[in-house]
Amino acid sequence: MKVSLVVNGAPREVEGGPLRRLLDVLREDLALTGTKEGCGEGECGACTVLIDGEPVNSCLVPLAQAAGREVRTVEALASGELLTDLQEALVRCGGTQCGICTPGIAVCATAALAREPGADRLRLRELLAGNLCRCTGYQLVIDAVAEVVARRADATDAGAAPPLPARTAPTAPGQAGPGVGSRGAAP
Ligand code: FES
Ligand code: FES
Repeated sequence: MKVSLVVNGAPREVEGGPLRRLLDVLREDLALTGTKEGCGEGECGACTVLIDGEPVNSCLVPLAQAAGREVRTVEALASGELLTDLQEALVRCGGTQCGICTPGIAVCATAALAREPGADRLRLRELLAGNLCRCTGYQLVIDAVAEVVARRADATDAGAAPPLPARTAPTAPGQAGPGVGSRGAAP
């Protein structure tokens, strides 16, 4: 069957059975390989994308469930080589190491900050609890996201637009921490 959906702002038509995983459609058909597969069972959050603005584990989303909806992947966060403030903070704070979990964290944190721009560290940990990292620690991830919260608040107080993209390509240091549970399937 043919399924129409919007991916990163562009209308796309893809082929596949209704139970085909959205993760596979994104990576194999649309070459959007920024979305990673970790567990493949809805537990790790590496495959997180946004559907109609909500973070979902794309390994659990059947193609039929994405029909007619708007999907946003990690590729849509940066503007070309320009990283968002969040992506830059993840790099600068060492919130990424092997990088398998990083796209999912960046996507989930982007949605979390849009919804709760004033989240404190504890709340940030809760919001990112569905994104697991086996390499380092969660502390540096939370440091990065908390830094963005603070910077955006400062920019708002100063009457300036929140800083968004910054510089260019990442080179990564390390991270690790809590994080449990899964986000489940699509909303
Ligand atoms: S690969 Fe989808 S939640 Fe782990
Ligand atoms: S799993 Fe390697 S950086 Fe998180």
